[in-house]
Amino acid sequence: MKRLLRFAAGGLCLFPLIFASAQSDNAPSPKKLEAIELEACAGAALQGFRPIADTRAQRFNGKVTLLTALCRGGNNAVQYRFTPWVDWGNYWGTGDLSSLPKGYLSTSAVQFRGVTGALLDLEYQRIELIKFNLFDNNGTYQDYIVGRDGRVGAAIKTWPQLRLPPTNPYYAAVGGDGEQICKGELIRARTLTGICNDIRNPLMGSTGTPFARNVEFETTFPDLEQNQLTMNRHGGRINLMTPDPQVISRKLFTRTQTEGNGCNNGFGSPTFSTSANCDYLKAPFFNVLAAYWIQFMTHDWFSHMEEGHNAAEMMSVGCTSEKVNNVETPLTAEDVQKLGCRPADSVDKAYVQQDSPPGTFTSGGKTYLQRAPKTFSNNNTAWWDASQLYGYDDTSVKRVKRDPNDPAKMLLEPVAGQQGGYLPVLGPGDPAAPQWTGQESVAFPDNWTIGLSFLHNLFAREHNSFVDEFRKQAKRTPNADSGLRNPTAAAQVIRYKDVSADELFNVARLVVAAEIAKIHTTEWTPQLLYGEPLYKGMNANWNGLLGTGDPDDSKALSNIVAKGFGTSKNATKESQWYSAFASGPGIFGLGSKVPHYSITNPDKVNGGVNHFGSPFNFPEEFVTVYRLHPLVPDLIEYREVNKDPNQIAQKVAVIETFEGKATEAMRSRGMANWGLSMGRQQLGLLTLHNHPMFLQNIKLPRLDTPTQQVDIPALDLIRDREHGVPRFNEFRRQYGLRQMTSYDDFVDQHLAPGSPARLQQEETVKQLREVYGTHVCDASKVITDAQVNDDGSPINDCLGHPDGSVVDNIEDVDTVVGWLAEYTRPHGFAISETQFVVFILNASRRLFSDRFFTSSFRPEFYTQFGVDWVNHNGPGPIQMEAGTPNGHKQPVSPLKRVLMRNVPELTPQLKTVVNAFDPWGRDRGQYYSLEWKPQPSAVGDPAFQQ
Ligand code: HEM
Repeated sequence: MKRLLRFAAGGLCLFPLIFASAQSDNAPSPKKLEAIELEACAGAALQGFRPIADTRAQRFNGKVTLLTALCRGGNNAVQYRFTPWVDWGNYWGTGDLSSLPKGYLSTSAVQFRGVTGALLDLEYQRIELIKFNLFDNNGTYQDYIVGRDGRVGAAIKTWPQLRLPPTNPYYAAVGGDGEQICKGELIRARTLTGICNDIRNPLMGSTGTPFARNVEFETTFPDLEQNQLTMNRHGGRINLMTPDPQVISRKLFTRTQTEGNGCNNGFGSPTFSTSANCDYLKAPFFNVLAAYWIQFMTHDWFSHMEEGHNAAEMMSVGCTSEKVNNVETPLTAEDVQKLGCRPADSVDKAYVQQDSPPGTFTSGGKTYLQRAPKTFSNNNTAWWDASQLYGYDDTSVKRVKRDPNDPAKMLLEPVAGQQGGYLPVLGPGDPAAPQWTGQESVAFPDNWTIGLSFLHNLFAREHNSFVDEFRKQAKRTPNADSGLRNPTAAAQVIRYKDVSADELFNVARLVVAAEIAKIHTTEWTPQLLYGEPLYKGMNANWNGLLGTGDPDDSKALSNIVAKGFGTSKNATKESQWYSAFASGPGIFGLGSKVPHYSITNPDKVNGGVNHFGSPFNFPEEFVTVYRLHPLVPDLIEYREVNKDPNQIAQKVAVIETFEGKATEAMRSRGMANWGLSMGRQQLGLLTLHNHPMFLQNIKLPRLDTPTQQVDIPALDLIRDREHGVPRFNEFRRQYGLRQMTSYDDFVDQHLAPGSPARLQQEETVKQLREVYGTHVCDASKVITDAQVNDDGSPINDCLGHPDGSVVDNIEDVDTVVGWLAEYTRPHGFAISETQFVVFILNASRRLFSDRFFTSSFRPEFYTQFGVDWVNHNGPGPIQMEAGTPNGHKQPVSPLKRVLMRNVPELTPQLKTVVNAFDPWGRDRGQYYSLEWKPQPSAVGDPAFQQ
């Protein structure tokens, strides 16, 4: 006990012993180390669970105590505690087999400690994110802070700002100027513009409502220098074009090419010769299909643009100055040529929804802004409703073609020489921007790519497959209760044979949207974040930790929820704990299994949603972390299913599969060949020096400018600046992550000094210093109130360096540049921890907020056939994958099932695929291996020789 208390008091005496163990020859034996760790666990348990922070500055930051680190990850976790990066990535079992110790009594026990510890850390982060990072731009923020009618802000569930305005065609239907509540047809299915998802807040998440924020309004638009903290943080150094975005793109984003490889600025060979090559840094565990998947998703979730364009006014986009010896200096013609940027480019400015000065209010002696200084509308529905397929406003829906022979179906037409149906091409009467000519007619046609063409066609086929199978069921059991109900005649059973074509179309949409959300949550994300904690975490979001049937998960649940978090009668606390408790049953279907459910009872229909006191929409910061253009290669390694799939038949430039050319390529070469090609090829790593060259040089003929060209990676930076996204370091503090104190912090401390990878990172750090510069710091200037130093003092301009010393302008680094520069990542993370934290908050929130994924995931809306389809990944009973991939029994993945059902030519290729986003043909090895090794059938594939 005495020893335990010593541990609990800080355990510092252990530190030299355990730390020395890694270096010294007479290191303690594994058994001794294990004993030390177990004692640390006991000590950590005595310390108890850390409370949820009361103030922003006290946040968890993903950093645990010494004892906890020792317990969960041994020496490895202890030695990296002093880096800015979250600790859990160094816990036992969170990586591949090498993350488990050798010589311990049991690896499963340490793995359990490590993985459960990681899940616990993630849950703390989520709880604090929900507590500190919700900022609505609709005008509800004051109520969130001060409360309303005796209710604390976090417990408010309805907002007058989310009523439909008199101009909305459904104004009268929801109650006009009286109490507004959606009913009847408006609640049965997903609506075109996304109204009535929350039946008591009809406007929430609908097309045209403002993007929210995840950061304090005062920290947005840093170049406006709205307050003293921001002024001190940036010292007048930044604005829309400074540092120069095109210069950043050319110096920090360009892919390095092997001389003479035929890359041709990303355009490859005009004959698609396989001798052309464009080098890019590749992720061994994620394929090109996954890159296009996320583009497909973002087109469902948000859009700043309208019908393919921004505002009318044009602006130039840089290539005018660079830092020379730390001084911003105009570029000479020679500099321009050397860099390869274009001063004559210009683009259309971003649309602004509101830019009048925001009002203020005071609470607890502090003055707050009521909204951000500028707001922007999300021109898509914010719901995960497959609106890219089905439409989001009156214009987009005109492009969605239904089959006149069976209006329950999407219109698909035969294409000569190809199997299966294809989406029709835009016709003369269809609303379309000129650049979309020749493309498939779909609701969201912008920036059309071969991957979008594939996925739109795939899910249109899936929609029709569902309708076909439903009709078969209706033939088998015409008089059976389908489960569907019409709220205007709720007592009346709707038999399978009575379901109308319109009803069936809407049911199919609900099913397709839920399948897409399930694929994203349980298949795409666990492959993006390829390791045990996120496999468990994401399955918990969907099925619940208890729903997996894995006894380890039940243990994890009891640790996280039952022991870890208490119950509370306090409304604010309840709101905080809610997400932790939801880990038990899972978010999906929350509130759908309540007694006496009735479609006419609003409390049942809507009862499962939780907005945590702040209406749901995506924040601008979410868009920022989805600027994932480095995922795209320059050339696609084109393969053919009916020939040798191991052969790369051609190297097709991605630009030759853009807009109308995508449709032409899809129809002439066929879904199966493109599916195979994108399934086999590795996507690009999200890191600096890895943006597609063709995107830096793309020609957009819609632009009436001298070059008609634009550097999209540079534009990513400009758009974030236009939207007022805080720069990287403050962005991290705002999200409860540790700040950097210099560019050197980016270098991954896990790498041995002098190793090639480390030297390369050190070289990039030099480039960051050259591009963003340094300044002489002033310790009297406080720069943030979102975080404090370890000793509790405010963070100042010197970031812990001596007053008057030269420090890096780390505060000015654009957020996209910062997260691309994060070399330190948990095992198997295709994204950085900064992106991930944005995702932890928003990915679960959009499930919690959506009635159709919670209390309305019911036969009354989906039919029983539809509920089963979503739960079983298709018709019939659930199918199980062979073996236990990474130690888990798991169903055949939902996308694999969708692919086999709708592109059956791919079935032989998919036989050995466990996750459709892992490069097909890769041997997954054991326990989250990242090795780039072929399966026996793919040994002849040249991709594995690279
Ligand atoms: C061939 C592939 C692609 C091309 C040609 C392309 C092109 C573009 C263009 C032209 C814009 C509009 C820039 C503007 O005016 O603001 C854009 C925006 C964007 N792209 Fe891509 N893109 C591609 C792939 C991807 C992928 C794979 C992702 C992954 C998520 C992605 C994510 C985004 C995002 C998040 C935006 C901002 C959208 C908004 O502000 O609402 N893009 N892209």
